Amino acid sequence: MKAIQLVTSQPAVVLAKAEVAKPSPGKGEILVRVHAAGVTPTELIWYPTSYTKDGQPRLRAIPGHEFSGVVAELGEGVQGFAGGDEVYGMNDWFADGATAEYCVTQPASIARKPGRLSHAEAAAVPIGALTAWQGLLDRAKVQAGEHVLIHGGAGAVGVFAIQLARLHGGRVTATASGKNAAFVTQLGAEKVIDYATMPFEDVVREVDVVFDAVGGETLEKSWSVLKPDGRMVTIAADAEGTTDERVKAAFFIVEPNQKQLAEIADMLDAGKLRVFVDAEVPLAEAPAAYERKVQRRLGYGKVVVVVS
Ligand SMILES: NC(=O)c1ccc[n+]([C@@H]2O[C@H](COP(=O)([O-])OP(=O)(O)OC[C@H]3O[C@@H](n4cnc5c(N)ncnc54)[C@H](OP(=O)(O)O)[C@@H]3O)[C@@H](O)[C@H]2O)c1
Repeated sequence: MKAIQLVTSQPAVVLAKAEVAKPSPGKGEILVRVHAAGVTPTELIWYPTSYTKDGQPRLRAIPGHEFSGVVAELGEGVQGFAGGDEVYGMNDWFADGATAEYCVTQPASIARKPGRLSHAEAAAVPIGALTAWQGLLDRAKVQAGEHVLIHGGAGAVGVFAIQLARLHGGRVTATASGKNAAFVTQLGAEKVIDYATMPFEDVVREVDVVFDAVGGETLEKSWSVLKPDGRMVTIAADAEGTTDERVKAAFFIVEPNQKQLAEIADMLDAGKLRVFVDAEVPLAEAPAAYERKVQRRLGYGKVVVVVS
């Protein structure tokens, strides 16, 4: 099958087209014919892209662990899905990803594709929506009326974080670039701070929850705007290897979750949640998409690779 593989990660990450063997599903696994896969550029520097589960160097990883497609084959013992089902979801970070014609996943990591969405739209959902859900609802447990500060509100995760915080009654302040301020307001943020011109720490305080999708200085400065009993959640890639106990406690990595994917699909079909596809590129252009070198049509949301 056709796939995109990481051919080297030193001194820089390089992706290239490759012909690789079509995978087959093992016991309890599902083979998905990929129609579209989401692009998370920072994934290339995450640990599982370059290392196996037992710490050995990993070569030739196929990136992209969120997708929309059709069930092509069921492994032994799989129940709840049938060949031809349209599904969307994630697969294991340590497994080959979905920037390929086929990928293998687990039944618990996928759900029925939202019927009203195209495959490209559905592929832009799983990581963004699950990360926002797990950060805001499972970890921070946002309550109605609470003030939530969302850093990176126009990003692939941020667009879902703003919507989910609002749907749970949160009052949202978001940081974004000036060009995305109107969009972020229309998504539900009461206040938008242009991070390029205004230090957010000068204008927000006493926040109940910070959801940080930016990291670095933004995360560091966010501690000062939290209420004494406020909750911090960070998903930023640079927090992964931290030794700071406070940051370690605030950081988490999104996990596949069938029940949440099914609820998110219902919300998308009901028009309660919206997805924003910033660009659709063919498989051959996936390396450029990971290098953020493709033409974007919106300037917010997610870039998607359309495989078939
Ligand atoms: N831990 C996890 O499970 C997990 C899951 C998914 C993603 N992530 C990580 O989360 C981060 C965000 O991911 P993403 O996919 O949403 O990225 P993305 O689509 O590239 O969005 C990043 C957003 O951050 C904004 N931004 C940049 N600098 C900023 C600043 N100083 N202050 C406020 N906003 C700023 C940009 O806004 P403008 O476009 O308006 O300039 C952009 O919209 C990445 O580090 C990614 O690796 C982690």
